[in-house]
Amino acid sequence: MENRIPLIAGNWKMNKTVPESIETVKTLVKLTADVQGVDMLIAPPFTSLWAVGDVLKHTKIALGAQDMFWESHGAFTGQVSADMLRSCGCSHVIIGHSERRQFFGETNQTVNKKLKAALAAGLIPIFCIGETEIERETQKTFSVLDKQLIQGVEGLILDDHHPLVIAYEPVWAIGTGKTALPEQAQEVHAYVRSLFAKVFGNSLAKKIRILYGGSVKPDNISELMGLPDVDGALVGGASLEPESFNKIIHF
Ligand code: 13P
Repeated sequence: MENRIPLIAGNWKMNKTVPESIETVKTLVKLTADVQGVDMLIAPPFTSLWAVGDVLKHTKIALGAQDMFWESHGAFTGQVSADMLRSCGCSHVIIGHSERRQFFGETNQTVNKKLKAALAAGLIPIFCIGETEIERETQKTFSVLDKQLIQGVEGLILDDHHPLVIAYEPVWAIGTGKTALPEQAQEVHAYVRSLFAKVFGNSLAKKIRILYGGSVKPDNISELMGLPDVDGALVGGASLEPESFNKIIHF
């Protein structure tokens, strides 16, 4: 078993005003003061990044954004660049979330551009992949993941100074209360790690953290974290309440 530090990340999606965000993280900081040996991260909406970053300064909780654009600046109304995220205190950025693929036209190609731009700016991407229910039912899970991973990471240069986190989020498990069975999660995580090894070599593949996402709750986290290739979780709904997120962090 490799020495990978678990990462528990909360994706708030389109939830919480600025005052609500501040209140939530203040409580979370207090609840998690004793945490050791687990990395923690919160990804609030863009509007709350600066305020949340201010609360998280000098704490053990890292700040992430939920998306970014690949260009550095210019006439791209509504978009946010990697440097802007850095200036809010972000160390991480979620890229390729299934909701962006489903509702906002994200493709493996746009994901690839965003991953390159994030790494170039010194952000650690949390690169999301995952199959839909119909893809799983028609035995396409592995071919879909192959394509998402291989096209997503094409041309990336990764090393200890330019790390990447992968999040496997089966689309059918997101917000549905259906979690992947432990054997399903382990099977995919081990597969993703072996695929990653083919592209980037064994030593990097052993170091990379692969998070599971999709209806992670306080009552299923410990089973998931017991799986050899699950290195953490990307939590949606259960990260909105500091008490439940804290329970997940204390798996
Ligand atoms: P839920 O935990 O609400 O299922 O969301 C998972 C997710 O999409 C995290 O990015």
